Amino acid sequence: MSKASLFFKSLCLSLTLLLAVPAFPKPVLTNSDTEKKIDLLLGKMSLKEKIGQMYMHPGEYGNLSEDLKARIRDGQIGSILNEVDPKIVTAIQDEAKKSKHQIPLIMARDVIHGFRTIFPIPLGLAATFNPTIVEETARVSAIEARTTGVTWTFAPMLDVTRDPRWGRVAESPGEDPYLASLMGAAMVRGFQNDFKPGQSLAACAKHFVAYGAVESGKDYNTVVVSQQQLHDLYLPPFKAAIDSGSATIMTAFNEINGVPATANEYTLNEILKTNWGFTGMVVSDWGSTENMINHGYSKDLKMAARQSIKAGVDMEMVYTAYIDHLEQLVADGVVDERLIDDAVRRILRIKFKIGLFENPYPVQGELLAKASLELAKQAAMESMVLLTNKGGILPLKKGIKKVAIIGPMAHAPHDQLGTWVFDGKKEDTITPMMAFKEHFGEENILFEPALSYSRDFSKQKFGEAVQAAENSDAILLFLGEESILSGEAHSRVFLNLPGAQLDLLKKLKLETNKPIIVVILAGRPLVLTEVSKIADAILYAWHPGTMGGAAIVELVTGAQSPSGKLPISFPRAVGQIPVYYNHKSTGRPPSGNYLSMDKIKVGTNQVDLENRAVYLDVETTPLFPFGHGLTYGKFSFHDLSLKSTNLKVGESIEVKFKLTNRGKFKAKETIQVYINDPVASLTRPVKELVAIKQVELEPGNSRVISLEVPYRRLGFHNSQGKFVIEPGDYKLYIGSESQKTHTMTFKVLR
Ligand code: GLC
Repeated sequence: MSKASLFFKSLCLSLTLLLAVPAFPKPVLTNSDTEKKIDLLLGKMSLKEKIGQMYMHPGEYGNLSEDLKARIRDGQIGSILNEVDPKIVTAIQDEAKKSKHQIPLIMARDVIHGFRTIFPIPLGLAATFNPTIVEETARVSAIEARTTGVTWTFAPMLDVTRDPRWGRVAESPGEDPYLASLMGAAMVRGFQNDFKPGQSLAACAKHFVAYGAVESGKDYNTVVVSQQQLHDLYLPPFKAAIDSGSATIMTAFNEINGVPATANEYTLNEILKTNWGFTGMVVSDWGSTENMINHGYSKDLKMAARQSIKAGVDMEMVYTAYIDHLEQLVADGVVDERLIDDAVRRILRIKFKIGLFENPYPVQGELLAKASLELAKQAAMESMVLLTNKGGILPLKKGIKKVAIIGPMAHAPHDQLGTWVFDGKKEDTITPMMAFKEHFGEENILFEPALSYSRDFSKQKFGEAVQAAENSDAILLFLGEESILSGEAHSRVFLNLPGAQLDLLKKLKLETNKPIIVVILAGRPLVLTEVSKIADAILYAWHPGTMGGAAIVELVTGAQSPSGKLPISFPRAVGQIPVYYNHKSTGRPPSGNYLSMDKIKVGTNQVDLENRAVYLDVETTPLFPFGHGLTYGKFSFHDLSLKSTNLKVGESIEVKFKLTNRGKFKAKETIQVYINDPVASLTRPVKELVAIKQVELEPGNSRVISLEVPYRRLGFHNSQGKFVIEPGDYKLYIGSESQKTHTMTFKVLR
């Protein structure tokens, strides 16, 4: 081998080694003292007792039968799901104290976006682009949940997805792996709260992995992903969660290229436990072991048990493949008892880490504390995205007295909370109708729901709505989705506004010809192509949680400027899905001059049309792109420069610029930095988000800002599955969203 190629090979090796080192130190989930305690316990436990730790019971919802007590005393239950009565939890832990090894149970609950104080749905939290506030919401959720004795939450859900048909998009962090990584790490830090006694929940990054890639957005559907997509799109948020110390991981329902996630040795044992060195615990999803029979991967529960334990699933959620079959599988020599020991070690590690052996009982804590509600309002405000604002109709002008509050989502206290809410109560909700009455005075609010719920087709009350609109100085129309129309097993293929909501908007515009501000409360991106032509402004509020109404008033009246940005692209039509910003260029990218089919002369043949990656009946771009979100400011970028345009190996990128708010209002802008490698050993996305920074400026103010992008953000997994950063020319884009950006170039040197 020539000297040059030897040098190059050694350079690549060192580069790979350099990059193989985790980006930041991983918080440890155990120590030698804990391991000694576990050794002692394991040494005394029978095989049956070990397998008992690997079983999560579905709970008896406020009851505790003699049978369940007996099974706890016999050490046959490791965890219970969905028990939140502090008295019952106390009784359960007392029962565990009577067992031979006195191992406490870890009590689990889906605390997804709040416990009693409900924050925006996770897709809305992602729209804040603010990891700090998201971390805070998780911390408050943990403190509230601990008052019941719950010590384990099944969050954060980190399934990147490009498909708003999928009901679980509501729980997802959106379409971008970097934003999802920031959100996942923040939620893990918040929930686990440095494992402070009585103030933390064991987090559970889910659903491992690629659940967001279900074909056609149909829940539980087949997932086929390339190695590159797996490593560069779906795995990174989980790596970020693990590097932030996530105590547990939950496997997904779906298969991955033919192997169910719950029996996938490659993703679980190889990537998660070996390559990433994950020392926490893996739990199946609800029956995902038994589902493998339906998948056509397991003949029966006994086979499912063998496949799951061998792949690295440590605890089984509510099904009984493990407790019914593992003992026999070990006795038959089919399953090595060391696999059981490793699983139980991981379970006990988390029980020690979360402090259960010191205190397994409910702790004191305040629900709905004033500060928590304030946080919920602030998080809701920062989650909301101003999509359009024609003529600057928002914020409402001073002097407006009478306000028409119309639509089925104006006072929908249950639906406003969103999906995955078990312990929030609709009685706590501040709806828009309530908040506007509070702000403007009851006598100045003309409230007409016009439709009883989002799917209502009855137009009988439209007249009253028109009347209210006629008699008002401003019209606010609250539309969207009931919460039941998104979430698990709630995928949809028609994404325009349900029911007669669009008719209501059209009727109001036709009859009054007055400006109409549309506020949408929904669990997913809806198709707003027609709405955007009629509405004068659109504020997307997602399902904003307990304080959503109060948040909307603040934004609409201008007390605070909207700052949310879209974490997922909004399609012009369902047929466009998947449409996303980090797409590939293709061999024939759109040229920009869209040729709609209604302009095609009859009898035209193929040659007259551009052969480009476009549609004849809709523009190729999304209606609203990833990263889009207006503010009440008017931000501009100047004096852009790169510290170095010839990056050495390992050198980070530093971009410097001046940001000016030329608007009339104070506002916070979310600056986004994207990169593109235009020529690489595998085709790269036209843009990849690599850094964000939020800057608030008073009107007329400027600030010089520098932003650093770590070298490793340029990397990707090549065709050998290796993480590499390839030398050559790169583009850097910077702006307030993913489409309209300033372009700069730099080189990565060999
Ligand atoms: C559900 C979900 C999972 C949830 C679990 C427990 O089926 O897939 O996200 O945490 O069951 O409720």
